Amino acid sequence: MRLLLYTGKGGVGKTTTAAATAVCAARRGLRTLVASTDAAHSLGDVLAIRLGAEPQQVEDRLHAVEIDARAEVERHWGRIRDYLVAVLRYQGIEDMVAEELALLPGAEEITTLLGAEGWLRSGDYDLVVLDCAPTGATLRMVTLPDVAHGALRILLRVQGALAAVVTPAARALVPVPLPDRHVFQDADRLLYRRLRRLRRRLLDPSTSVRLVVTPERMVIDEARRTWTDLSLFELPCDAVVMNRLLPEAAVSEAFFADWGRLQDERLREVAALFAPLPVLPAPLQDDEVIGLERLAAHGEQLFAEHDPAAVLSPPSQAVFERDDDGYALCLPLPGADPALLDVAKVDDELLVRAGPLRRSLRLPRRIAPLDLAAARLDGDQLRVRFARGAD
Ligand SMILES: Nc1ncnc2c1ncn2[C@@H]1O[C@H](COP(=O)(O)OP(=O)(O)OP(=O)(O)O)[C@@H](O)[C@H]1O
Ligand SMILES: [Mg+2]
Repeated sequence: MRLLLYTGKGGVGKTTTAAATAVCAARRGLRTLVASTDAAHSLGDVLAIRLGAEPQQVEDRLHAVEIDARAEVERHWGRIRDYLVAVLRYQGIEDMVAEELALLPGAEEITTLLGAEGWLRSGDYDLVVLDCAPTGATLRMVTLPDVAHGALRILLRVQGALAAVVTPAARALVPVPLPDRHVFQDADRLLYRRLRRLRRRLLDPSTSVRLVVTPERMVIDEARRTWTDLSLFELPCDAVVMNRLLPEAAVSEAFFADWGRLQDERLREVAALFAPLPVLPAPLQDDEVIGLERLAAHGEQLFAEHDPAAVLSPPSQAVFERDDDGYALCLPLPGADPALLDVAKVDDELLVRAGPLRRSLRLPRRIAPLDLAAARLDGDQLRVRFARGAD
């Protein structure tokens, strides 16, 4: 079972590439589901069929679904959200603001992933291809299991302790509204089963993110930053798709010769910037890539030399290793800016901040009692050393 996520800047061809991958994989024999959360219903437009909130068959071995993120959020987070609104309102925060605050940023995105996780577990599919939102939202989506897990854990711990000691008669005297049993049950189900399972799925070697770019500077730069951010959370990227490349026949015309040269330059640049990820070139087609046959042809060009469902580059994850007089953590962080990096150890966790993103890594038992001795960026690797303190 394999999960593939396609992301990239707005309009670069994510939906087209995700759909072409799915059609290609299904025609080569895999039971495939392609899913999108785009409220504009562009996956349905690309496949040229009307899609719903449940997977429906498109052709042999191929299903597609457009997730209704709003409805799903209500189903998963509804009661927790209502409780948060009650707490905020109690603290004198206006209804409107309280509701806004309790919207849980990223809830829509994470709900999408929970859906994908469910379909993968159903055993009905060998491959699930997700057409993700543009990069910012995708990052929120993949980092949220971390963030939500922490927030919900604190909420549960505090409120659980309160609920345990406060009898129903005393409830009226307690200065915060207490959640009822159902809120705990919902939070518990989300937290301990689904979010944990989702985190495991995202970190599984069978999950890969593919970055879609076009031969434009801004698009490439954004993808490169995304790669760093995804690496911080150990989400493996396995390939870059370079879309909308002018075909050979066009660049051999004098009029397009300069574009051809620039394009070659950008291709080489992307190969170097994203090494060791393979770069899959995708030609600019002479018309929009709509309908199964055009998607299949586009997919065959894209995957002429690869299996669309293969892990195209081995994942590089964090490793702890023995060091002279202690231990070291090596976390691959390609393209990280040392000026924006910050590393701290708090109890048994290592906090790594890269720009606006923060990751906390639980330290193995043998390393947790040691002190943070040094942290530096060594090429594409963040190297953090732990050693016994002086005392
Ligand atoms: N290789 C290609 N050749 C020709 N047309 C393409 C190609 N790739 C994408 N397109 C066209 O470009 C437009 C945008 O593509 P698409 O919808 O796949 O982008 P997207 O990244 O999903 O956009 P959004 O960020 O809005 O979701 C569509 O009209 C699509 O048919
Ligand atoms: Mg799209």
